[in-house]
Amino acid sequence: MSSGKQRENLYLIGFMGCGKSAVARGFRSLYGMPVTEMDRQIEEQEGMSVSEIFKKKGEACFRSLETALLETLSGQCGLVVSCGGGVPLRRENVDLMRQGGRIVWLKAVPETILERVSRDDRRPVLRGKKNIKDISALMEERRPAYEAAADITIETDGKSIQQICGEILQEAGCGDCSGTGI
Ligand code: S3P
Repeated sequence: MSSGKQRENLYLIGFMGCGKSAVARGFRSLYGMPVTEMDRQIEEQEGMSVSEIFKKKGEACFRSLETALLETLSGQCGLVVSCGGGVPLRRENVDLMRQGGRIVWLKAVPETILERVSRDDRRPVLRGKKNIKDISALMEERRPAYEAAADITIETDGKSIQQICGEILQEAGCGDCSGTGI
């Protein structure tokens, strides 16, 4: 984190719709930090959407593509990585993120999540589950994995993107980094 040391990657984790992509975009626009959106990168590489990958190749294949991408990203530095919501469920993924990276868990209440995920149909894991009861149950099921992976935890409800980015940098010990990255 400090000058002279190689800049760490910042991995944003959390449930679908918790704001990982929006916060990553915030880091890009506010601090000029390079951003990688894992889902989009996998879609580009495979030439099909995440939903199509799930349908045509299966979820296990998608999960392996995530791990392969993390292997590549862990060899880079100074990136803000917006992870797919399922990334921390694999222990090896957490180990890869820890190699030269900080893991930031973005939390939001189920009501916020539902409002955001209701807007599109891109998430196969939530098909038929777009209601508070099912979302809360899946969040609870995943909570231990997010908790175990997180170096930094940020409550996002009611906060602006600017506030969230600032809090992350502060927590990462980089409150005075004046836009030059971590
Ligand atoms: C998933 C989350 C999605 C995407 C895929 C699976 C999950 O990413 O990777 O649909 O299992 O939580 P977002 O968290 O960006 O929606």
